Amino acid sequence: MHKTPQIKTAVFPVAGLGTRFLPATKAQPKEMMPIVDKPLIQYAVEEAYAAGIRHMVFVTGRNKRAIEDHFDTAYELESELVASHKDELLTLVRSLQPQDMNLSFVRQPRSLGLGHAVLCAEHLVGNAPFAVLLADDLMVGPTGGLPVLTQMVHAFERLGGSLLAVQEVPLDQVRRYGIVAGEEVEGVGNERVLKVNNIVEKPSPGTAPSRMGVAGRYILTPGVFEQIRSQPQGVGGEIQLTDGIARLMATEAVYALQYEGKRYDCGSKQGFLQATVELALTHSEVGADFRSYLRGLKI
Ligand code: UTP
Repeated sequence: MHKTPQIKTAVFPVAGLGTRFLPATKAQPKEMMPIVDKPLIQYAVEEAYAAGIRHMVFVTGRNKRAIEDHFDTAYELESELVASHKDELLTLVRSLQPQDMNLSFVRQPRSLGLGHAVLCAEHLVGNAPFAVLLADDLMVGPTGGLPVLTQMVHAFERLGGSLLAVQEVPLDQVRRYGIVAGEEVEGVGNERVLKVNNIVEKPSPGTAPSRMGVAGRYILTPGVFEQIRSQPQGVGGEIQLTDGIARLMATEAVYALQYEGKRYDCGSKQGFLQATVELALTHSEVGADFRSYLRGLKI
């Protein structure tokens, strides 16, 4: 029987300008903004690692050096921590670089769009299916359940085709998402999977084919590269990933998984603040004190 290939590579497009967070993102990457004590990009890398992926490819741009440094050895810091016997902090700092994790970096010379950013990673991905994670979408799996990308890898192993993470969004917000429509296919347990027959980038509420919005997690077959390469500019003059996926649908099956868990849109101020408050409440070190602090606020 044909065996679905394993997902070995994750692509992290981090070359966007982050204009919604100016001035914070003028000189530092949006993906380095912390939720409590961990940068957004680290949450995404940990999610990919937990899904069994060991090759992490970052598509970076100007002002993104801090991301490379974050996952590199910090000699001065480590020797200071060794000298002062701060073993726990040393373990924490070193845990960012598991021995079996490989990192690659490629530059997107200009912010030409998410599809273009993914195409910049083609030579590092090769002819194999791969994951794409947008770190500004922070995904928290259900309590006691699997992280979102792990749910997707499992579904991919069963379906064998490209797979998008989707969630139902309010009608007045469809213009902020890629929106999909399709026919339900048989899932496992509570899992809900659609075979996508329509995908539109940022439709107006009047023309949206459904309320199923794409969240920032994808598993894509390498056929998508050819589609992106030959497609015209899309919404906003950008090379859109959504358009490449729409073209891919003409040649192979594309699925959407309604994942279990919660998404925080940390590319927006509102989502970033919600993630900060909710993750702080569950944080082992500050959670209890922060809860009583919030209770005491007169709001
Ligand atoms: P966004 O739409 O959030 O754009 O990109 P942005 O530039 O990061 O932020 P705003 O809207 O100006 O505030 C979604 C993802 O695609 C990446 C971004 O880094 C983000 O992870 N991206 C976008 C690229 O890597 N390159 C691009 O040309 C565009």
